[in-house]
Amino acid sequence: MRISVIGTGYLGATHAACMAELGFEVLGLDIDQAKIDALTRGELPFHEPGLPELLTKHVDSGRLRFTTSYEEVGTWADVHFIGVGTPQKPGESAADLRFVDAAVASLAEHITRDALIVGKSTVPVGTAERLGTLLADARAHAGLPGTVELAWNPEFLREGYAVRDTLTPDRLVVGVESAHAENVLRQVYAKSLAEGTPWIATDFATAELVKVAANAFLATKISFINAFSEITEIAGGDIGTLADAIGHDPRIGRKFLNAGVGFGGGCLPKDIRALQARVSELGLDRTMRFLAEMDDINLRRRDRVVDLAVQVLSHSLNGSIRTTGVGDGSGTVPSPAAVEVLNGAKIAILGVTFKPHSDDVRDSPALDVANRLFTAGAEVAVYDPKGNANAARRFPRLGYVNTLQKAVIGADLMILLTEWDEFRQMDPEDIGRLMDRRTLIDARNVLDPAPWRAAGFTHAALGHRFAPEKSV
Ligand code: UGA
Repeated sequence: MRISVIGTGYLGATHAACMAELGFEVLGLDIDQAKIDALTRGELPFHEPGLPELLTKHVDSGRLRFTTSYEEVGTWADVHFIGVGTPQKPGESAADLRFVDAAVASLAEHITRDALIVGKSTVPVGTAERLGTLLADARAHAGLPGTVELAWNPEFLREGYAVRDTLTPDRLVVGVESAHAENVLRQVYAKSLAEGTPWIATDFATAELVKVAANAFLATKISFINAFSEITEIAGGDIGTLADAIGHDPRIGRKFLNAGVGFGGGCLPKDIRALQARVSELGLDRTMRFLAEMDDINLRRRDRVVDLAVQVLSHSLNGSIRTTGVGDGSGTVPSPAAVEVLNGAKIAILGVTFKPHSDDVRDSPALDVANRLFTAGAEVAVYDPKGNANAARRFPRLGYVNTLQKAVIGADLMILLTEWDEFRQMDPEDIGRLMDRRTLIDARNVLDPAPWRAAGFTHAALGHRFAPEKSV
């Protein structure tokens, strides 16, 4: 079976390389010539552990090739996976479907044989049905040989674990309209099926909804624990212990209950917004309203880090604690109190990617916080093991350094915003010697406060009441 993959971003490039690993001949298509040239040389335009090795292996073997030609894929492949982006429309909540629409339209005009088109992109419910009609009309009009059918097969891979999640998924969900389409997809995923991976064959609408429901649930779990952080920050209590304790209940589970600066990336934020927009279109304005709350809780975490920076710095500079109050998560305009304390302060920013093991800074809470501190007048020294280049493209005026040590030298405050292993392993004495003031904010709750306090650090963390008297 010959497989094409349309779109070679995180999803498409990973899917293409993994399909080759499963033994298929694969042709990856992208409209971006530079991307195709890089991939053909075996170069990956983003960081994803394990993927460069797979790419090189299969480009070298000839099993994996790349093209910009729809004509080539249309005459060659039996199955066409669509892995193009569905970003948030600028200035709106809804998803921008123009890349998916264009991919289906282009395939319809170029396929010259029996084929199955399989959508993997995350789309609002109703999209596959609409595209099925579009496909049928376009085929009737094109008058080309071959019967072409559509299926939807949502993707659940996580950045940083993309290869593992694709080769050994938790479950496989396929939205199909015929036994033939299901059979073709069973052949594609034969290896996973033989290993016992749950197989859910269903209709288009369910397949589309499974994906957005999963991401909405994950976002809700994170914002749920972060809402409790807002309580423990005032009332006292330990947010980590709270998460552990409720997580022991198997109905709740401990995963995705890590309190911190919240969720970001190219998926969770835009998917919960697109879902709200879609259900509103369906006349269900109230149904997903709680997701707006989840979004707000998430964005308020960023305000909280800025406020905590003001509190920690004012305490360390003159013993009094200034606060800017809990904001509403909406603004990047700093309050006068924030500017007064932050202006000229030297702040080491540890991490700017939306999570570790990725160089992705899309909607990154860490990068947003770094930029807010900079806007308020702080001198920020940003270090991320993989994300500096992408961050610098987005916010070129921030100060970037290429080692952890350079970031903390002379700093008045250090803020850990992405939980890379390098930061978890820091030695308090080594770091303390380099800083001007021994102060730190753990915005991911990954550092044990005891050794840092023992080394004379003022330690603050999200989800914990700021109690500097305990720090000295
Ligand atoms: C997410 C889903 O986890 C994947 O299943 C899905 O396929 C993907 O979106 C997608 O739709 O393509 P990803 O965006 O790679 O994957 O990232 P996650 O691992 O879900 O993390 C999202 C954010 O939540 C990160 O910013 C992370 O730091 C944050 N997070 C995660 C927390 O703040 N706390 C937690 O306990 C867990």
